[in-house]
Amino acid sequence: MHPLHPLSDQEMHRAIAVVREYPELPPNLLFETVELEEPAKQEVRSHRPGDPVRRRARLVVFPAETIGAWHVVVGLDEGEVLSVTHYPAARPMIQPEQLAGIEDLVRADPAFIEACGRRGITDMNRVMCDPWSAGRFGHGDEENRHVCHVFCWVRPEEGENFYAYPLEGLNAVVDIRRLQVLQVDDHGVTPVPGGSHEYASGSREPRSDLRAIDIVQPDGVSFELDGHRITWHEWELVIGFNGREAVTLHDIRYGGRPVVYRASIAEMVVPYGSPDRAHYRKNVFDVGEYGAGKLANSLRLGCDCLGAIRYLDAWVTDIHGDLVRIDNAICIHEEDAGILWKHRDQRSGQVEVRRARRLVISSIITVGNYDYGYYWYLHLDGSIEFDMKATGIINTTACVPGEPARHGREVAPGVVGQIHQHLFCARLDMAVDGDANTAIECNTQVEPPERNPWGNAYFEEETVLESETVAARRANPATQRYWKVVNTNRKNVVGRPTGYRLEPTSCVTPFVLPGSPSGTRSAFTRNHLWVTAHDRSERFPAGEFVNQSDGSDGVATWIEQDRPLVNADLVLWHVFGLHHQPRTEDFPVQPCAPCGFRLMPSGFFDRNPCLDLPG
Ligand code: NI
Repeated sequence: MHPLHPLSDQEMHRAIAVVREYPELPPNLLFETVELEEPAKQEVRSHRPGDPVRRRARLVVFPAETIGAWHVVVGLDEGEVLSVTHYPAARPMIQPEQLAGIEDLVRADPAFIEACGRRGITDMNRVMCDPWSAGRFGHGDEENRHVCHVFCWVRPEEGENFYAYPLEGLNAVVDIRRLQVLQVDDHGVTPVPGGSHEYASGSREPRSDLRAIDIVQPDGVSFELDGHRITWHEWELVIGFNGREAVTLHDIRYGGRPVVYRASIAEMVVPYGSPDRAHYRKNVFDVGEYGAGKLANSLRLGCDCLGAIRYLDAWVTDIHGDLVRIDNAICIHEEDAGILWKHRDQRSGQVEVRRARRLVISSIITVGNYDYGYYWYLHLDGSIEFDMKATGIINTTACVPGEPARHGREVAPGVVGQIHQHLFCARLDMAVDGDANTAIECNTQVEPPERNPWGNAYFEEETVLESETVAARRANPATQRYWKVVNTNRKNVVGRPTGYRLEPTSCVTPFVLPGSPSGTRSAFTRNHLWVTAHDRSERFPAGEFVNQSDGSDGVATWIEQDRPLVNADLVLWHVFGLHHQPRTEDFPVQPCAPCGFRLMPSGFFDRNPCLDLPG
């Protein structure tokens, strides 16, 4: 087994059993996550196929009724707890199993029933309550509790799209641990919008003018999967998965040369722009507060994925420490990707053209109303691309038709989508030709007049990002800014260091004020690039425990150490996303809105690496 292979169900089972019997932890423990405690890099690098592997599990567990959590590392060979760290103020991720209980609790609350009555709703089974992470706003009664904040909708008929019918102005605060409704807030009645906004099959006659497209690979696929280790073309890597990050990629190599040691989408936050009523609270960290992996879908052939597909299942724990298998959580396949290169010799008429294809590794998660497609692409030419496809249903509120507030747009009469952003952070533990790397910022500048007699002169300026505080950077389209990671110990055909560049293709400006309650907690969104010296304990840019966090943990704090970055083991934190002013076309269900980034070889190869593809 490869040392980075995710924990098997048997290993998870064993780890949970060891933790349950550990005398220094309380007996009624609840479980947030259990995942592989990844071995140190040296251990992975020195591993040869067939070597014995030391397996360890990392768990986050928490008490049933109070705040706090423990990190536990279990040695699976020894069958014993190796370390326990207590975080007394921590709130773990909100667990999927808690959501229905919170909804039931709110629906049974007398003050809430009364508020629904003021809106003409008496059948409480038709009221839908989505628990949102509550944030940290200094409300005194929430400080020592783990709370969530509830927004509500009504489902007029069974199976209807309830997000079209917001119960605007009706909210509740719930203590998740003690299962108590702490308060019900009725900010006043706004009429529930009408109309039909269905999207399900069966809600309309499907058109019949599109004929079948089949993806056929008569000779089979060109990749090989050995457990979670995949090889394809010149690429090799290990595919991981955990309850928090969902899919992770490890030890990515091209032609045997290391490129990236570990890649994941380590956090995402969705800040909304409305100060009205309770909407200021909406600033949700979908990875750190809910766990992307726990929300992964089971993918279906012919629907989510088309063609010759290989799937990987994933195992996660539920809140009680029982294992849940997510069938087909990760989809792997090849896609034709148009032409890779072409030239026609105008004199001779000779044409040379090569087809491109890409290997796709994907997962789809559902977080309440939104769905996110994670698509990692490996290209023949050495590029690695990530595409996040945001789809699902926008978060809806209601207004008097024709009178939306300035912080949103009507997407249907009386239905409002508020302005918001989806900000993601990729954690890219780079390894360009090894671990000793240097990060460089590239800006294109116009020459000063004395060097620019014809007014056409411009050049690219390279600046080494020497330490962490100077490596906190924003994108700048005016200078065609990008960043690259080079290995100065390895030179290419023209004597320059080998490298990979990060193309920041989806940078958005953050609008939450830095010192504000939500801005403090999402400090990682202030820059589009952070570079840190590798520390395996630094995994999550908004901190380890994000629910009701105070913002003191995370990448903005780590860089205060100002560690040197030259010829060092580097981690890039790339913040990218979508700026979303909702459109009528985003409703009642949103066509995929993509955002992402691309890592491209830049002096890594001595020439186009795809000359040997068949013509
Ligand atoms: Ni959106």
